[in-house]
This record gives sequence, structure tokens and C-alpha cells, in this order.
Amino acid sequence: MSLPIKIAPSILSADFGHLNEEIASVDEHVDFIHVDVMDGHFVPNLTLGAPVVKCLKSRVPIECHLMITNPEKYVEDFAKAGAAMITIHVEATGERTEEVLEQIRALGVKPSLSLNPETPVEIIEPYLDLVDMVLVMSVHPGFGGQSFIAEVLSKVTRIHELKPELDICMDGGINVETGRQSVEAGANVLVAGSYIFGAQDRVRAIEALRA
Ligand code: DX5
Ligand code: ZN
Repeated sequence: MSLPIKIAPSILSADFGHLNEEIASVDEHVDFIHVDVMDGHFVPNLTLGAPVVKCLKSRVPIECHLMITNPEKYVEDFAKAGAAMITIHVEATGERTEEVLEQIRALGVKPSLSLNPETPVEIIEPYLDLVDMVLVMSVHPGFGGQSFIAEVLSKVTRIHELKPELDICMDGGINVETGRQSVEAGANVLVAGSYIFGAQDRVRAIEALRA
């Protein structure tokens, strides 16, 4: 049995001066909103923090993808700001990964774990029973609009074999073609930034991803 497809627009490619209008242009047609949080340390770019998340208005839940060092210092702020799900990077938490995932769940937020393109599945295997989603990076994190790294598809298939009922999200370089490849490999959640926010007809672009 395959899991239903979920679509999450990444607001990294939206107009940061009008975030709530940008969200309103898509949120009736998607499953959740993906917010990319970058600290200029874990990744070579800066975006936004919990005070901005607090101001976001959305008809669907908000997931915060924390591409930051020491996420344990900030997860409470993002929980208080309204995040329904928080994704952390296994490369950022290392041996403290279980502790931080439990910290997130104790805050009443769904924990999700991400791995970079070069990180093997074995590194996240011990945590699969502790998370509501695994987010597989299909670009090197830090920027929107990069090309999809097809080598990560085999990791999706492996995670799906290990835990078929788990939501597996692909993030980076998603369009109709790479979205289809991701779903065929075993992913059921697609994050797309430039593809959705750069489309002439955003709603049609979202529906094309589900097809
Ligand atoms: C990259 C971010 C992605 C990014 C996706 O570091 O985690 O969520 O915004 O953007 P596109 O879909 O343009 O690759
Ligand atoms: Zn992301």
C-alpha cells in the first residue's frame, strides 16, 4: 500500500516581503508549509528565525527545516512560534540526535530527521522509530533553485524498505520529473520551492506534482 502524496511549498523561493500573501496563494492546495531556517554556520546562507515564523499565517501546518548548528538551543522557540513539525539534521546533532528528537516531541511538536546528500542511511537508521518523517536532501542545503542529485534516490528506496509506513520527504530540485522519480523510489512527501513559487500558475504546478 502506498502512502498518499503530500506537497509542501518551500517559502525560501517566495517574496520575503510578502510572506503571508505568498502562503495564501498556495495553502489551500498543499499539505503543509516548509520553512527553511539557515544560520550561516551549518550552511553558507542566512534566512529567518522564530520571530518570523510566529508572524506566518497558514491554513495548513508549518514545518521548520532547521539547517542550523545546535538546534536544541532553538527548538523551543520554534515550537512556541507555532511549528507543527521540526526537522533537524543528523549532521548537526550527531550523538545527541535521540535527545533532541525527544526534546522536540516533549514540546508537542512532530520530530523529523534530515540527512545531507553525502550522509549514508545507516547514520539515521537508529532513529527511524523516533521520527514522524525523514527528509532526504536532494541538493546540498543552503540555497533554492539547485539541480536535483539523482544519486540520493537509492537512499529513499532503502529507507522505504526499512520502514514502509514512514513519511519520506524529498527536498531540493523538485519539479514534475524529479518528483515522479522520487515517488517511484519510495518518497511520498515533496518539498518544492522555485518550481512552485516561480510558476506562472502555482496551483496548476502543485496539481502537476500530485499527478
Ligand atoms: C535547500 C532547502 C530547500 C530549498 C528547495 O537548502 O532546504 O527546501 O528551498 O528549493 P528548490 O525546490 O528550489 O530546490
Ligand atoms: Zn528545506
